[in-house]
Amino acid sequence: MFDLKSWSAERLARVEQALSAWVPHDAPVRLGEAMRYAVLDGGKRLRPLLVLGAAEAVRGNLDAALRAACAVELIHAYSLVHDDMPCMDNDVLRRGKPTVHVAYGEATALLAGDALQALAFELLAPADAGIPDRTQARLCRLLAQAAGGSGMAGGQAIDLAAVGQRLTEDELRHMHRLKTGALLQASVMMGAACGEAAPEAASGLAEYGRALGLAFQVVDDILDVTADSATLGKTAGKDALQDKPTYVSLLGLDRARNHAAELLEQARAALATTGLADTQALRALAEMVVHRDN
Ligand code: IPE
Ligand code: IPE
Ligand code: MG
Ligand code: MG
Ligand code: MG
Repeated sequence: MFDLKSWSAERLARVEQALSAWVPHDAPVRLGEAMRYAVLDGGKRLRPLLVLGAAEAVRGNLDAALRAACAVELIHAYSLVHDDMPCMDNDVLRRGKPTVHVAYGEATALLAGDALQALAFELLAPADAGIPDRTQARLCRLLAQAAGGSGMAGGQAIDLAAVGQRLTEDELRHMHRLKTGALLQASVMMGAACGEAAPEAASGLAEYGRALGLAFQVVDDILDVTADSATLGKTAGKDALQDKPTYVSLLGLDRARNHAAELLEQARAALATTGLADTQALRALAEMVVHRDN
């Protein structure tokens, strides 16, 4: 029986060590401190685990995969810093700690996000790490597409414009795919880009990432209603308070849960089409996404 806990423990240790080594202490004034505060000691590290799981499934270059894992986590951490700012969701709690703008002020939080985004791309294009230029370029392209205007940042723009609106299911799905799904799907595709996956493996993994990415935000919407702030490490109940359209507000809790279960089935089915032997970690990660409690 595959044991996700022990599989993850070894990989999480590598990711934590690499993040701690790569996120600088010495950016001026309190910028370095704020960057480290935003990234280290917290978070489930789901995106890095997806990168590593996919890279292992295609027997990819593991040095490139560790860089990709950290780069995606840096973009994610930056997105959280900005998401929590008063001009966006105005949250004071993240990963069980005061949010970055509460701890360091708004200007430093803004700059910490900017600097984390730049650092992500710096990690993907090292001068001397023996990673082929072609792989570096593929990783940069996938991450840039997922983070930018037709990915996470675009989804966040829709999210803010949707406050107080009633979206159709298609519109809500589109918003979730962009704001959250894109980066999760990119995590899987970046892992695959660390190797030379056959076309059916690459497309099966992309489909797995697409289903898992949407499932992740459906479950985030559910947990916002069902979990408490201590378990989540962030303020529960914010979506209803801020009148955000979510899968729960659109479908109700039971149908939102059923939808997450359907998406998990889609993710599993997509994995089965890859023809890859070693997909137990990806399968277990998808189950964790849907059955998690924080
Ligand atoms: C929270 O993501 C923000 C969303 C994209 C919904 P995670 O639930 O992965 O947050 P951490 O990294 O574990 O804190
Ligand atoms: C955030 O979505 C998506 C991001 C791009 C950060 P949410 O606003 O629902 O995330 P939480 O619930 O604050 O973590
Ligand atoms: Mg938000
Ligand atoms: Mg938020
Ligand atoms: Mg949320």
